[in-house]
Amino acid sequence: VDGGLSRRALFGGGAGLGLAALAPAAATARPRPWPAAKAPSMAGVPFEPRDTVRVGVIGLGARGMGVLPLFLDVPHVTVPAVCDLDPQRAADAARLVEQAGQPSPARYTAGDWDFQRLCARDDLDLVYVATPWEWHHPMALSALRHGKHVGVECPLATTMDDLWDLVDASEVARRHCMQLENVCYGPLELRLLRMVHEGVFGELVHGAGAYQHDLRASLFSPTRYYHQWRRAWHTRLRGNLYPTHGLGPIAAYMDVNRGDRLARLVSMETPSLGLEAYRREHVPPGDPLWTEKYLDGDMNMSVIQTAKGRLIRLEHNVCDPRPYSRVNMIAGTKGIFEGFPSRVYLEPDATDHVWRGIDQYTRYDHWLTKDVNTPRHPDDDGANYVMVWRLVQTMRLGLPPDITVYDSATWSAPGPLSRESLARGGAPVEFPDFTRGHWRDPVPGLDSVKPA
Ligand SMILES: NC(=O)c1ccc[n+]([C@@H]2O[C@H](COP(=O)([O-])OP(=O)(O)OC[C@H]3O[C@@H](n4cnc5c(N)ncnc54)[C@H](O)[C@@H]3O)[C@@H](O)[C@H]2O)c1
Repeated sequence: VDGGLSRRALFGGGAGLGLAALAPAAATARPRPWPAAKAPSMAGVPFEPRDTVRVGVIGLGARGMGVLPLFLDVPHVTVPAVCDLDPQRAADAARLVEQAGQPSPARYTAGDWDFQRLCARDDLDLVYVATPWEWHHPMALSALRHGKHVGVECPLATTMDDLWDLVDASEVARRHCMQLENVCYGPLELRLLRMVHEGVFGELVHGAGAYQHDLRASLFSPTRYYHQWRRAWHTRLRGNLYPTHGLGPIAAYMDVNRGDRLARLVSMETPSLGLEAYRREHVPPGDPLWTEKYLDGDMNMSVIQTAKGRLIRLEHNVCDPRPYSRVNMIAGTKGIFEGFPSRVYLEPDATDHVWRGIDQYTRYDHWLTKDVNTPRHPDDDGANYVMVWRLVQTMRLGLPPDITVYDSATWSAPGPLSRESLARGGAPVEFPDFTRGHWRDPVPGLDSVKPA
């Protein structure tokens, strides 16, 4: 058995939904053609096997310096090069690499475009991009054009043109371009994925995902983000600025790009109030921050319909006080799970309309949760380490990646699509088929089989 093939691809479990399939063209107000492919699909294309995975890291802020030690902890990974605008951060990263017993990495710190010299090196297999959103597209493009696979932080890119550009560039370069969506590798998300594929939820009907994270203090902090890049996005754009943490797991449960696809989206949002209110309380009058105008509504809600007629509710709110939530809801003809806090109701185990705990379903845990040892990373649920470990495994064994460039573009697309729908008064907008018609193909995905 090919270790990269998903159980679903092998056994085809539950693919035949009774829900009426939507004709994508009929499902939208404004159908449009997609750009013609310049090269064959990258779905299911295996990595070339290698013993060692050589990683170059661009962006050594909070996220890059959080993930670098995870790469260094995985056996058979080397880090020959790092890049950041800040030489001190590059020096700190170099020290981490040296402490892992590796030669000191080359450092690229000579300005905004020095990452191109890192991408041009001939001793890298993978470039990892952990920079502000505006840099994801040029950095991923440079890596692909220099023949490197590339893993990109969330979201993959912020415009539809840039998403298509990366799909095309990946296909032409024959290199993978992957959204490194850590949330998909959480033990709970992987357990739910297994449960869905075992038919425990029956036929799927709807789901919901979100990024609800009170970021106000971080957004206004003078030091948390490099040049306060993240708040700047709130002055530029409306809509869902950060869709992939919420959508990635739900899309995986629904086999999006592996039997179903996202067909159309409608989006609405509230007025923008939270950042203004925070500024009134925390920023003295006359401060330059008072010239900023915040555009995006506090709560953005989109509804996505899939080709099979299922619904996904997708929410984004980083501007109001609240506990963190990604909602992570999935529901079908046999029951429902909702996260934050976790609760489940599944027939025939439950028939009394009372929520249960999810712990009774640990028997469905994914092999990655059971096999990958994450003892040195107790600060999170292990998702980040498992993601990095599995990426390295697929690259070493010559398996296809769990997350394709089509998944990456699909999960990021609600950013520009929500803006388009908002600009048109909440009208439905067609979801592009980044697979260009291959969305029914049984390509390997996150529900991987443990390699022999
Ligand atoms: N997956 C997750 O859970 C998660 C968590 C946090 C952040 N992120 C993502 O990671 C990315 C970085 O976020 P962060 O919180 O680390 O931001 P940050 O501001 O802490 O770090 C950004 C770093 O990028 C560097 N940088 C900026 N422009 C550059 C350029 N042209 N060349 C080289 N380096 C450059 C900055 O100097 C800084 O060190 C974002 O895309 C964010 O959405 C993901």
